[in-house]
Amino acid sequence: MTTQLSLLTPSGHLTLGNLLGALRPLAARQEAYDTRVGVADLHAMTTAHDPALLRARTRELAVLLLACGLDGSTLFVQSRVPAHRLLTYLLECVATTGELGRMVQFKEKGRAEPSTRASLFTYPVLMAADILLHAPQQVPVGDDQRQHVELTRDLAQRFNRAYGPVLVVPEVVVPAAGARVMDLQRPTTKMSKSVGADGDGGVVRLLDPPAVVRRKVARAVTDSDIGADAVRSDRATKPGVTNLLEVLVACGGSADGVTTYGALKKAVTDAVVAVLDPVQRRYAELLAAPDHVDAVYARGEERCREVTAPVLAAVERALGL
Ligand code: TYM
Repeated sequence: MTTQLSLLTPSGHLTLGNLLGALRPLAARQEAYDTRVGVADLHAMTTAHDPALLRARTRELAVLLLACGLDGSTLFVQSRVPAHRLLTYLLECVATTGELGRMVQFKEKGRAEPSTRASLFTYPVLMAADILLHAPQQVPVGDDQRQHVELTRDLAQRFNRAYGPVLVVPEVVVPAAGARVMDLQRPTTKMSKSVGADGDGGVVRLLDPPAVVRRKVARAVTDSDIGADAVRSDRATKPGVTNLLEVLVACGGSADGVTTYGALKKAVTDAVVAVLDPVQRRYAELLAAPDHVDAVYARGEERCREVTAPVLAAVERALGL
């Protein structure tokens, strides 16, 4: 059976981008694949962090994964499967500082920091360890994680050439629609869960009530085009409208017969609310069943410890440990 794996970082409340770029594609194929989905809590420590907040967000994300319908998957919290950390160091002995310095995310986030944590630099190696430890053939992610999966492939190939054929080289899988959901207020910037309250207007959260979704979509930036064909995709000249159209399609809606921005926004709101509604209902139910959530994760983590142990052991052996 093909294995697919992906993780999400609890660095903020999940957004529509996370849902369309990663969670829905994972859920859609979870019956046909051995699906493993993790909460990347260790990845949320690469910039200044508050331990209590990290714990709360880790829990919220864990419950949300179940609420998004991933109950047919093996779910785990990354830090509870220690092999992720153990493999990271071993892969740091394969990765080079040059290639890590070329990672776009490091360049973007590192630049803003007065003092950058070493873990922000090695972040893609931890991500490579997440992936290679589980030996998935496929890694479904949004467009922004593509470069990190490419690096993972490079590391696996380099390892296999130098030390023997131990690691599975994974494919990156990016959805046709929804791979890069943009911020509704700044449609040339990706929608991100880590924007602060001031930039929140362009970010649709999975737990936003329908009225909030409606307000955010209504205020989405479009453009001043009022031509008969104003509602059309053109990333370069109409980024806001293009984004709304893509969200609509990724949420299962259709723009057929939609000719005005007002009608487009209404269609987008309806489609997004329809996608979020079952997630929010299930989330509320799960909050009342914490023992069930704990049991699902305990089971998933035990399975992860079992299936990853032989991979770690094979890597250690190949390296001469
Ligand atoms: P993270 O937590 O930033 O995002 C989780 C997933 O959501 C996708 N995504 C988006 N897709 C479309 N539009 C957007 N605006 C958008 N924003 C985010 C991301 O591409 C991702 O698939 N480093 C990773 C987490 C990670 C991981 C892994 C992923 C850790 N280890 C191993 C895959 C495999 C991250 O921070 O994603």
